[in-house]
Amino acid sequence: MTIDQNERYTRSAKRGNRSAAQRFSPDYLEAKKSIDDRALNKEVWRKLTQELAFYPATGPLQVLEIGAGIGTMFERVVDWGLLKGEAVYTATDNDPVQTNAAREYLTRWAGRNDYLLQWEGKQLARLRTPEAMVTLIIRQVSVEELASGYESPHSWDLFIAHAVFDLIDFAALLPDLLLLLKDHGLFYSTCNFDGATRFLPSFKGDEEIITRYHESMEKRLSGASHTGRRLRLFLEKQGLDVLASGRSDWFISPGQDGYSPAENSFLRAIIDLVDGELSIGRDTPPDLAAWVRQRRDQMAAGTLSFRARHLDLLARCGPLAGI
Ligand SMILES: C[S@@+](CC[C@H](N)C(=O)[O-])C[C@H]1O[C@@H](n2cnc3c(N)ncnc32)[C@H](O)[C@@H]1O
Repeated sequence: MTIDQNERYTRSAKRGNRSAAQRFSPDYLEAKKSIDDRALNKEVWRKLTQELAFYPATGPLQVLEIGAGIGTMFERVVDWGLLKGEAVYTATDNDPVQTNAAREYLTRWAGRNDYLLQWEGKQLARLRTPEAMVTLIIRQVSVEELASGYESPHSWDLFIAHAVFDLIDFAALLPDLLLLLKDHGLFYSTCNFDGATRFLPSFKGDEEIITRYHESMEKRLSGASHTGRRLRLFLEKQGLDVLASGRSDWFISPGQDGYSPAENSFLRAIIDLVDGELSIGRDTPPDLAAWVRQRRDQMAAGTLSFRARHLDLLARCGPLAGI
């Protein structure tokens, strides 16, 4: 996200009294990609790779992703060799800004990697890499629509949700979403926020500001600030077999040369997000303006570190799932 875009975005969220966390710019998602790559739990990923290697697919692997944004998870599953042979990958998001940006973003990515990506119409593409032949379908559809029967049940082998379950009422939607998976289908959900945010070095307003930031998530959606652990419990209660789980924290600290351009944009966006969320309404913490100024100064000086706790989960639908 460029500085201008990010400021515009935070200002418009404040003006409209709307949570900044409810909208994401494609530039922010692009910057977030490398932070997520580092954060993702590699043991959970390894288990997913292993499960897919033995998965009894009866045709091309059918993958459904919700809240896919500009397609960074698709990029990852191709680059990291998860998809082998034939697959159909359906990337869904309810925001047309994302689904439109995905085409341009993925075209650039394929070009950089010498992958053959041919578009057939606006939202359908064929990708050929040395290892895989993938049909990519980008669909503007909400999770709520998917849960209410938009797609045929029992038709997907792998369900992916990355950094999205803290934005939707998963307890209400998941029972229907899980119906979309085939028997023994896999459920992979990553970067589920799990209750802790930390900026270092510490600053006098920190405790109140972070508490209030987590409360703003709760106001938006009850339970959102502890999505990771709630999701794990929920899957177990639904009778899914949780095959692997582990931490996937976002972590940024300055290296010898400060921050990478992506880290720089991402940190700036996170500070703006906290500022935007806490500036809504009348009850703004008195230390907020000083806190934001201090964090920006620390960024400029290359002394700021940041961590947000997340949880990755891999589960399998089985006969006990009742689906
Ligand atoms: C934090 S972003 C993550 C995007 C992508 N997974 C990534 O990490 O780059 C959350 C995404 O979920 C989408 N989203 C939020 N609520 C949704 C809903 N109810 N149905 C479908 N998509 C939704 C947003 O438009 C956004 O693209």
